[in-house]
Amino acid sequence: MAVYASFRSIGAYAPEKILSNSDLEKMVDTTDEWIVKRTGIKERRIAEKHVSTSDMGAMAAKVAIERSGLDKSDIDLIICATVTPDYFNMPSTACVISDKIGISNVQAFDISAACSGFVYSLTIAKAFIESGMKKNVLVVGAEKFSSIVDYTDRSTCILFGDGAGAAVISATKDKSEGFVDIHASADGSYADFLVTPAPGSVHPANQKMLDEKLNFVQMKGNETFKLAVKTLTKDVIDILETNNIKSEDIKHFIPHQANYRIIKAVGDALGMREDQVVLTVQKYGNTSAASIPMAINDIYESGRLKEGELMLLDTFGGGLTWASALIPFAGKTK
Ligand code: ACO
Repeated sequence: MAVYASFRSIGAYAPEKILSNSDLEKMVDTTDEWIVKRTGIKERRIAEKHVSTSDMGAMAAKVAIERSGLDKSDIDLIICATVTPDYFNMPSTACVISDKIGISNVQAFDISAACSGFVYSLTIAKAFIESGMKKNVLVVGAEKFSSIVDYTDRSTCILFGDGAGAAVISATKDKSEGFVDIHASADGSYADFLVTPAPGSVHPANQKMLDEKLNFVQMKGNETFKLAVKTLTKDVIDILETNNIKSEDIKHFIPHQANYRIIKAVGDALGMREDQVVLTVQKYGNTSAASIPMAINDIYESGRLKEGELMLLDTFGGGLTWASALIPFAGKTK
């Protein structure tokens, strides 16, 4: 009998500390008005110095496991999507999370797909489950993006925030609970649009790397913006057409929260109503791989997300990578 991957639960963690636009006005040559007009972001959360990506991921994971109704011993795979891992490059953040949440002897690994990381991980969870290899996969998207942001660079420091989200993806025999469709793609010829040049094999850690600030994220913002709108719109149209679903049938459109103008342009191109579009960018900024699960958690905790409702996920990030998914929420409603 066929098995399907189902989205059982969601959890998230947002650090308490807020970095507001007025705080940034004191740090770089910018204004609240410019940031709100160009990005829609009003504030973002920043993790304390002693808090790592795995700390936030573990907190989100505990919530997701508890809400799934499963015992942690039921989890048989842990995937963490992050581009701000605890360590470059071992142990993986997934391994550190597994220890922090008390799960041992279970396969655990990270994936690197920037903002698309969470949806990329869902494709992996689906493949493991539907091939029969695993039953309950913990997928975490966690980022301490503030650890790779140059807070003297106004073009990037206004955009990013820290946080984590997690979901439990479980096997089901009920097709109506299963993922409807999911796909992910990449085009490495745009690798230089979004890059953290060091440390790595190209620029191993040394004093020169620090002097040239190569350890911070660099972005071709305007070029990325235009490509994001084009790619996201095409990707969503493709997945809806392939599955013969109309945009008005989507209960929750949950795009990657990078920039309100990107979300609005894609939403408008698809004819989405305001009540369908989930927005958290104003309060969290861009949290990369954590952005989509944090947004799902937001509608879950506010009681907007009900069992069986169809979610359309759509994301875009460094690599360049992109991905979209049509998934019913198969968890218990709050
Ligand atoms: N405050 C004031 N002025 C600024 C700021 C700022 N914080 N930042 C840039 N400017 C200036 C620029 O210097 C430029 O000035 P100039 O015209 O004198 O040269 C002007 O504003 C316009 O700059 P642009 O970069 O063209 O502005 P744009 O409208 O493109 O907005 C932004 C910039 C917000 C970065 C936008 O391009 C964007 O959101 N890009 C996409 C980011 C994204 O989606 N990334 C993908 C995912 S991230 C990931 O994968 C990790």
